[in-house]
Amino acid sequence: MTADIHSERILVLDFGSQYAQLIARRVREAGCYCEIYACDAPGGQILDFEPRGVILSGGPETTTDDAHPPVPDAVLDLGVPVLGICYGMQALARRHGAEVHAGRRREFGLATLHPDGAHPLIEALGEGPETEVWMSHGDHVDTVPEGFRVVASTESVPIAALAHESRPWFGLQFHPEVTHTPGGQRLIEHFVRQYCDCHGLWEPGAIIEDCIEAVRAQVGKDGVVLALSGGVDSSVVAALLARAIGEQLTCVFVDNGLLRAGEAEQVRETFAEHLGVRMIQVDARERFLSALAGVTDPEDKRKIIGREFIHVFQEQAEQLPNVRWLAQGTIYPDVIESAAAATGKAHLIKSHHNVGGLPETLHLQLVEPLRELFKDEVRRIGQALGLPQELIGRHPFPGPGLGVRVLGEVRGEYVELARAADRIFIEELRTWDLYDKVAQAFVVFLPVRAVGVMGDGRRYDYVVTLRAVETQDFMTARWARLPDEFLDRCARRIINEIDGIARVCYDISGKPPATVEWE
Ligand code: XMP
Repeated sequence: MTADIHSERILVLDFGSQYAQLIARRVREAGCYCEIYACDAPGGQILDFEPRGVILSGGPETTTDDAHPPVPDAVLDLGVPVLGICYGMQALARRHGAEVHAGRRREFGLATLHPDGAHPLIEALGEGPETEVWMSHGDHVDTVPEGFRVVASTESVPIAALAHESRPWFGLQFHPEVTHTPGGQRLIEHFVRQYCDCHGLWEPGAIIEDCIEAVRAQVGKDGVVLALSGGVDSSVVAALLARAIGEQLTCVFVDNGLLRAGEAEQVRETFAEHLGVRMIQVDARERFLSALAGVTDPEDKRKIIGREFIHVFQEQAEQLPNVRWLAQGTIYPDVIESAAAATGKAHLIKSHHNVGGLPETLHLQLVEPLRELFKDEVRRIGQALGLPQELIGRHPFPGPGLGVRVLGEVRGEYVELARAADRIFIEELRTWDLYDKVAQAFVVFLPVRAVGVMGDGRRYDYVVTLRAVETQDFMTARWARLPDEFLDRCARRIINEIDGIARVCYDISGKPPATVEWE
């Protein structure tokens, strides 16, 4: 009997921080299951979760306002270790009688932490350059709260870290969860493992076993259908379900004609041939193209592609005997966002959904084995399940595919040109070892023609633009500074090898004000 991987857990209480998910990911990396609750979660819910420790996130509020969100009583009543980060520290300090001030000691960026005495949590950061920490705050704690002592300071903030004299309660003005704090992961791991007594139960092998057991218990002997897109999430669901329920799973892969080069083949090879998954591959290329004929508006194109997909999928699913379940690649950030949207507390509401809700007429229940996982965990699990790195490390690809990368009307000829140019760009990125250094890269086809010369002849052909961005969350993005020689090589190959393209541009627009995609 293996240990229950959810038996040791940490609660991350979110005070509205843009880093709450990052904190949770660090805790998971430290080998412990955790969940994120809103800071005003009912006390009963917090107690029922029975965490072994609580982390209070940062947040945009100020504790100098008497109406600030407080540290809930339930958190302190639990009697477990508490780590307050930034706002979380200030709220903890205020609660214990400290003064917090705004403004004077505002700090943003790296600062060197000076330990005050030897405290294990601060020592966990490391030495020398490892004591650099990332600061991002307006307010700061000005007096030492009752029962606490100062364990570290920086040049501009005398109270940069606090520890309670007798209880395992800590406060950090800096952000250990961001990668700019080099020893941050070690600090969080120390908190989770040493103070909260967690033992690293949360690791890929155990997570896979747990998911498999849960899926088997959920679906019994029923059939399950999955819309396989070739993206990371649906691929990992397919691999996991293949292992959990084998023949009970049927994957439907719809070739809408708007896929990248080699994608349909790769999916077939990986799933049908290597993993032995029962797969229905539907060639719907003509159907999508005809539905899109004459349509130029991007949102109309998205709607048509979504609608056609649902029709094709439904036609297939209805023919499968004994299917009672629809598997989906929902992941934990989707769950958090839907919950936030439902309570009106969403900071960012996802604007793109691949499958705009499969119709209720399918009468299928949902099985979502990745609901508890972050994207990086999904990738690690995919790796452990034997999916090829090329598939797991793929850049995101929008549901409407090349349909929104051919500007204006989607014609077969344009899609072919876009696909051929995209293939070369991606191939070169891999050759130059740049693919994993950018978050997303692709080619956009512009339905305008430009003049060129080739040999003695004049050309009058289409234009494509290369797009490559660096980003963590896709909400903002920086255009990738790719080497000149690399761009030169891509442009030459595209123009020389593809009959029909006369000119290649490179998109140097950031997001905002531009978006990542062109439509
Ligand atoms: P934008 O263009 O909004 O893109 O800056 C941000 C991220 O979202 C992806 N994207 C989509 N994904 N369906 C999707 O599944 C869509 O309609 C869609 N539009 C954009 C885009 O590729 C980028 O990763």
